[in-house]
Amino acid sequence: MTRGRTPLPTSHRERLKVECRVMPTRREIFQSLAAAVAAGRLANGSTVGAGALAQGTPVGSAAASPPVNLFDYEELARKRLSSMAYEYIAGGAGDEVTLRDNRSRFDGLRLKPRVLRDVSHLDTATTLFGQRLEYPILLAPTAYHKITHPEGELATAQGAGAAHATMCVSSFATTAIEDVAKAATGPLWFQLYVQPDRGFTKALVQRAEASGCRALLVTVDTPVLGTRNREARAGFRLPPGMERENLKGLVGNASTTAHVDEGTIYSSIFDAKLTWTGIEWIRSFAKIPVLLKGILTPEDAALAVQHGADGIVVSNHGARNLDTVPATITALPGVATAVAGRIPVLMDGGIRRGTDVVKALALGARAVLIGRPYLWGLSVDGAEGVRSVMTILRSEFQAAMALCGHTSLKTIDKSVLW
Ligand code: FNR
Repeated sequence: MTRGRTPLPTSHRERLKVECRVMPTRREIFQSLAAAVAAGRLANGSTVGAGALAQGTPVGSAAASPPVNLFDYEELARKRLSSMAYEYIAGGAGDEVTLRDNRSRFDGLRLKPRVLRDVSHLDTATTLFGQRLEYPILLAPTAYHKITHPEGELATAQGAGAAHATMCVSSFATTAIEDVAKAATGPLWFQLYVQPDRGFTKALVQRAEASGCRALLVTVDTPVLGTRNREARAGFRLPPGMERENLKGLVGNASTTAHVDEGTIYSSIFDAKLTWTGIEWIRSFAKIPVLLKGILTPEDAALAVQHGADGIVVSNHGARNLDTVPATITALPGVATAVAGRIPVLMDGGIRRGTDVVKALALGARAVLIGRPYLWGLSVDGAEGVRSVMTILRSEFQAAMALCGHTSLKTIDKSVLW
């Protein structure tokens, strides 16, 4: 297993082990999975993959061998993480209707293969806000990477860089944006949760800019958190020693606790008062492109353009906020139509296969983001796991493009769907 980690003080390491995860080697993981298969616990060793276990999606997976797809990584991570960390990451809101839909709606779309076209050279590059992306897949912002791996966001940034991918760093990272930037070997974007303290919010955006972040994703779908039963049952909390490093300095211990007033749904770390005026305010001082993350409807997409957003991320927050909203792949075409090419539209939610990326591009996305899968990679093998997850998805995407008869992103449109 590739490690290369800075040694941690024993007490910290022990605490992490107890609080978050057990840390067998990759060989031990494969051995224990092989034993489970032999004991018939994995459906007699048949084709049950992590996706099947987690989201009811049947996939071919041989989890007792090295991971070959993103579902394999989830299965390995599930064995490796504490149930608290696994449930926090994997879970969705409510009855997880939307969580299942985010996957199954991709599976419901069929691709159209075209033959006898020269696909010997593929160009997967695209340009967003003047930034060249080698391929149209980014790492979505996710909180608390240190619950997944002791090196947390530093390892993620290194894995993303090694895979030539852009990482979006969360406001709720367990590493300060300045430190992530120092370790990063590839481009960073910053995700903003607007805080009730607007002076602090502005300073945070300026810190991200000073750290070299090239775009700002303002998450607009979380005035309050969704109802997350799995997270609640697992008793999720930030383990001692971990903090929302970017929020240090806010009043009320916002970096360690999320104060929720008794009997209300409101939390001190989200601003339920944020409206379109707040977006105009951010745009008035931001020096980097401002994208709104968490738009699902054509109505809000039109308002986003009207209020000066530079881009939109169609997202239902990985189905973690409002349950029974549509899958993002279902919502994407309406948003793309409303935007009519005026600003780039990106999307995330449920992307696990290269074919999903082709489908999202076909329905109007300029690029996609993934959340949970790279966290599974991070948990299994640190930076190397992140690199591997991104590289697997990139190569699946290339194969899907070629088999659909396309050599460039420019020609991928609805005609690629059956
Ligand atoms: C998230 N997401 C998220 N979004 C955001 O804007 N800020 C954040 O801090 C987080 N944190 C977070 C933690 C975890 C554990 C998950 C799984 C997700 C949502 C994320 O950016 C993205 O929208 C989804 O993860 C995309 O769906 P998939 O790829 O996980 O299915």
